[in-house]
Amino acid sequence: MTPHAGPVLELREVSRVHGQGETAVHALRGLSLAVTTGELVAVMGPSGSGKSTLLHLAGGLDSPTVGEVLVEGQDLGTLSKAAVAGLRRRSIGYVFQDFNLIPALTAVENVALPLELDGVPSRRARKEATQALAEVGVKELAGRFPDDMSGGQQQRVAIARALVGDRRLVLADEPTGALDSETGEAVMRLLRARIDAGAAGLLVTHEARHAGWADRIVFLRDGRAVDDTGYASDAESLLEESR
Ligand SMILES: Nc1ncnc2c1ncn2[C@@H]1O[C@H](COP(=O)(O)OP(=O)(O)O)[C@@H](O)[C@H]1O
Ligand SMILES: [Mg+2]
Repeated sequence: MTPHAGPVLELREVSRVHGQGETAVHALRGLSLAVTTGELVAVMGPSGSGKSTLLHLAGGLDSPTVGEVLVEGQDLGTLSKAAVAGLRRRSIGYVFQDFNLIPALTAVENVALPLELDGVPSRRARKEATQALAEVGVKELAGRFPDDMSGGQQQRVAIARALVGDRRLVLADEPTGALDSETGEAVMRLLRARIDAGAAGLLVTHEARHAGWADRIVFLRDGRAVDDTGYASDAESLLEESR
């Protein structure tokens, strides 16, 4: 498949409202964002500012109330559920804060799962999974179950699972949250290497040190993108600034 020429991820004026009327929660308000190949964008902001909502929308796990989300040029809103699921398995890697490994499967089985679900023959899926584990430096854990691994080891396996195959979009929601600082740095290095090798990434983080690995930072507040002083980074305020 030839890669799509435009941004890997694009959000156009996206809003997400949970609930209705007086109890409605505006998780995102008119957010636009584009991330291209080779680019890692950090997402920062206080708790409840919409960071996870943004990643859910980018990963096709949730749909916007208003606006469009495009992955590799395809508007997710125009695709069938099955097509979105297929795109998710093939093109999108998701790293969660709490690893989300399946306890009943070994490391290599966890990593091979998205490939097998996508119809890749079992032998080939295992081979690619073993290679992905080797790339994140935990090949020797292939036969081990999540409960018998440290947090850092589980997170590396989770990253291998997010990177296995030819994923063009990597979404990581506080992937270093539960890790000591040394392991956290190692995880960031892996993520950066993968982006440099030809993917696009969104990284939610609270740590400026980790955001330092990104090409740019999007700050969210109350579901809006703001600049690092906390003011709305819309055209009007930018114009104001340039005067
Ligand atoms: N499924 C949901 N139902 C109702 N409100 C939600 C739901 N998911 C998120 N929210 C609300 O949307 C806002 C943004 O949440 P979230 O994206 O999780 O923020 P963050 O990841 O930055 O902490 C919060 O006010 C949260 O309570
Ligand atoms: Mg969150």
